Amino acid sequence: MARHPKTTEASALAHMQRAIQLARRGAGWVQSNPMVGSVFVDAAGTVLAESYHAKFGGAHAERRVLERVMQHYPKNQIRRGTLYITLEPCGHSGKTPPCLDLILQSGVQHVVIGSVDPNGLVNGKSIRRLRRAGVKVEVGVAQVECDYLIRAFRKWVITKQPFILAKVGMSLDGKITSSGAYHYITNDLALRRVHELRQELDVIMVGVNTIINDNPRLNTRLPGVKHIHHPLKVILDSRLRTPPHSKALDSNTLVACLESAPRHRMQAIARTGAEIFVVPPNRLRGKMLFEQLNMMALLAELGARGYTSILLEGGSYVFTTFINLQAIDEFHVFLAPYLFGASKLPFTYALQYDVSFPHPTFEQVGNNMLMRGYAKYTKAR
Ligand SMILES: NC(=O)c1ccc[n+]([C@@H]2O[C@H](COP(=O)([O-])OP(=O)(O)OC[C@H]3O[C@@H](n4cnc5c(N)ncnc54)[C@H](OP(=O)(O)O)[C@@H]3O)[C@@H](O)[C@H]2O)c1
Repeated sequence: MARHPKTTEASALAHMQRAIQLARRGAGWVQSNPMVGSVFVDAAGTVLAESYHAKFGGAHAERRVLERVMQHYPKNQIRRGTLYITLEPCGHSGKTPPCLDLILQSGVQHVVIGSVDPNGLVNGKSIRRLRRAGVKVEVGVAQVECDYLIRAFRKWVITKQPFILAKVGMSLDGKITSSGAYHYITNDLALRRVHELRQELDVIMVGVNTIINDNPRLNTRLPGVKHIHHPLKVILDSRLRTPPHSKALDSNTLVACLESAPRHRMQAIARTGAEIFVVPPNRLRGKMLFEQLNMMALLAELGARGYTSILLEGGSYVFTTFINLQAIDEFHVFLAPYLFGASKLPFTYALQYDVSFPHPTFEQVGNNMLMRGYAKYTKAR
């Protein structure tokens, strides 16, 4: 068996972090595949090739790296090198042939993997096959970061439901609408972060009141970024109160309504190019509960269409509904240094669940504070 380089923990971590950085370049373009990055390093520690999964249906990161390495370097150098991949390679044929076969064909004897693939078709099988073929496989380097990279894919591939990230901008007294003196509650740096989320996630979802009150465009605006991804805009609007001249309406918009919505409004909105999607009403034990969109039916439809992630942008009523469904997976809350008082809308109304964040991170973003964390729900007493 070929000798492989002695990777120190620090160098392995650095190469995996580089692979993560590369993987993020696929943000917005690879769904419903995961973002994946890969780096190939020779025995002397020189990076011979690096790449990432750039487009859904396109070549996987490790395939792009290995093809380059196999084309330019001798077999002996490849055998003694190390392949870093943020995610376990696939061993089945999908839109592309199995990467596992190419890894074995390349002769590389050392593979370092960040996360095990949660997809039932892979899920440890490729790791076992590599080991059975005599390849040294290390798993779990920078695992927390690698797992974070695929959090939406993990939820979707297991449940077929999109991952939901709620973004909130609020004042110190928990208000999400301002006095009117400020167009945005949060600062420019926070706004840039929100647009980075739009670039990454598949869908952006808002309630109809936000459309009526703010008339947002809901597109991605990132000066300096060449390839802009605009998420599908979804408006929750049972009775089609969305004004047909709203800026958010175009062929990349889905307006979710009830069957009972007025036909003439359906026609007016359809003329903008937006899709009208009729959602069944909520039901309780076979009985009609109330005339509101059945969110689980809508989420199932979006999941079935291959959308893996949703950026939930509010407002209060939507946040409350989703928390009461325990449907929000992660929160990004920007806290801005204002007090707006009782007349403004709160972040949430009455909640049936307390939400806690077992492992929050806090970051100062200019004069705003950003809290990020996965949500844990406990029935409120
Ligand atoms: N600071 C922030 O981060 C932020 C972000 C977004 C919005 N906002 C502010 O929030 C304000 C609007 O908040 P809001 O609470 O009045 O309204 P909202 O949450 O934007 O919209 C709520 C409306 O959406 C419709 N809807 C349909 N199905 C729903 C469902 N399953 N769950 C929830 N809503 C559903 C309902 O209208 P129908 O019954 O007619 O369908 C409901 O009244 C805006 O003025 C905006 O400025 C702030």
